[in-house]
Amino acid sequence: MVWEAYNGKTLFLTGTTGFVGSALLLRLLSQSRPERVFVLCRGGAKGAASKWAKLLPELQATALVQDPRITVLDGDMTSIDFGLSDSDVQLLRESVHFFIHAASTIHLRMKLRELSYSVIAPSVWLARLAFSSRKLERFVFISTAYANAHLWTQDASCSDVQIKEQIYPLIKDENPFFAAPNAWQDVQKNGSTAEFEAHNYPWAYAYAKHLTERLLLFFASQRGVLGKLLIVRPSVIGPAQQYPFPGFSTATSTPTTACATAFVLHPGRSMLFATRCTDPARTSTIDEVPVDVVVDRTLAHLAAGTSGCVHAVAGAPGRVTIEDWARANNKERRIPWHVKLKWTDADWHARQLCPLARIFKIVGTSFDFRQDKTDALARQLPQHELQALKLYMDTSADYSVASRRRHIRELGIEMAQRKKWPVFLVKLMCRKEARLQQQPHVYPQDSAETPLSEK
Ligand SMILES: NC(=O)c1ccc[n+]([C@@H]2O[C@H](COP(=O)([O-])OP(=O)(O)OC[C@H]3O[C@@H](n4cnc5c(N)ncnc54)[C@H](OP(=O)(O)O)[C@@H]3O)[C@@H](O)[C@H]2O)c1
Repeated sequence: MVWEAYNGKTLFLTGTTGFVGSALLLRLLSQSRPERVFVLCRGGAKGAASKWAKLLPELQATALVQDPRITVLDGDMTSIDFGLSDSDVQLLRESVHFFIHAASTIHLRMKLRELSYSVIAPSVWLARLAFSSRKLERFVFISTAYANAHLWTQDASCSDVQIKEQIYPLIKDENPFFAAPNAWQDVQKNGSTAEFEAHNYPWAYAYAKHLTERLLLFFASQRGVLGKLLIVRPSVIGPAQQYPFPGFSTATSTPTTACATAFVLHPGRSMLFATRCTDPARTSTIDEVPVDVVVDRTLAHLAAGTSGCVHAVAGAPGRVTIEDWARANNKERRIPWHVKLKWTDADWHARQLCPLARIFKIVGTSFDFRQDKTDALARQLPQHELQALKLYMDTSADYSVASRRRHIRELGIEMAQRKKWPVFLVKLMCRKEARLQQQPHVYPQDSAETPLSEK
């Protein structure tokens, strides 16, 4: 049922040269037979080919490049109309059934004004195009579970904040959808909004996603297509457990790999983080979800016709405690002492925190992201279909970052070059890859001889 929903359909995907988008494109093409998949890429087909070649094993990158169902549209979502020609825009409007918008900046340091160009405006433009499309069945916006991270600072008595799959209004008694256009005007005019300043967000990025969610809901309700909008909220995305192959990851889009790199290269004996948990090592947690869970939840909910917000998270059973997270990171150090975590009850923006804490501000927090909609979907699906989907992460193994050594080293070298540190020293500080990455088939059930297009 899930995969059949895409047979004969036309899709428009953004972000397919990124971590989530490439995994989603591969999964979709391996499991179903869409008629056509338009993908947006800066640099067009050539750009896509070179980015996939860097991101994926040769077999999979070539399969994507040669797949006749894919049409790469050369465009940049920060340009007017994504830089697409009128005829391309018309083609999308006339032919696309499913829009999946995964392109976004994921820079946590960006200011709200910059995010208005790279997150909010492009999402609004694409959603409005989708909502006026003739054949629209669904529009998917990939948001973040941390769009509601400001709730951490709202109730100081609770050290495990529950977040439901809903919109949380920022201003009491105000309809969150109808407040959104005014806030959007303020962002465009002043680079900020009263509601943003009134709440303690860890990053402007989180608020930008919050506002985008509400804007999309507002425009969908105006067009009478609220039921066709799906908002997927991943938590911290980590390497794949199964698809497209175990360990699939990128260095720059996996925040915890960047954290591991910071641990490996940290010369000191401690790092200072902010928390209000009484026993932070054991009670604060990180929710890291494998990318294939994000992909399968997106495609399964889309096929099932789910609308509104859906969390794509590890959830209560998959979260790791900060103690386990730190232990895994310390194991990767070659410097002969472990980094001890120190805690302060200062705010998560406090200047005295260690550099890692000032970016990855959620260390020291704990969020219980509900996943009721996925639980309900799993109950509806036939057993054989459920088993073939990766809706939940496998929690049987201990948390480890050992399989990410290549990326830790890459990030370390990049950091060394940026900070003008001796690169050889960084190489010495990084552990060698434990074993060669498993060479994947194009897809689990494929033989190397079967081109994607003939499936
Ligand atoms: N990674 C995480 O931990 C995480 C967590 C929660 C939510 N998310 C959300 O998940 C989605 C996917 O993130 P990701 O991890 O896959 O990010 P990613 O690896 O950085 O990929 C981002 C994608 O967006 C594209 N893009 C960026 N700016 C663009 C522009 N101006 N025009 C056209 N395309 C542009 C990139 O294209 P280029 O190849 O041309 O750069 C790339 O394909 C995002 O919406 C993100 O906010 C991610």
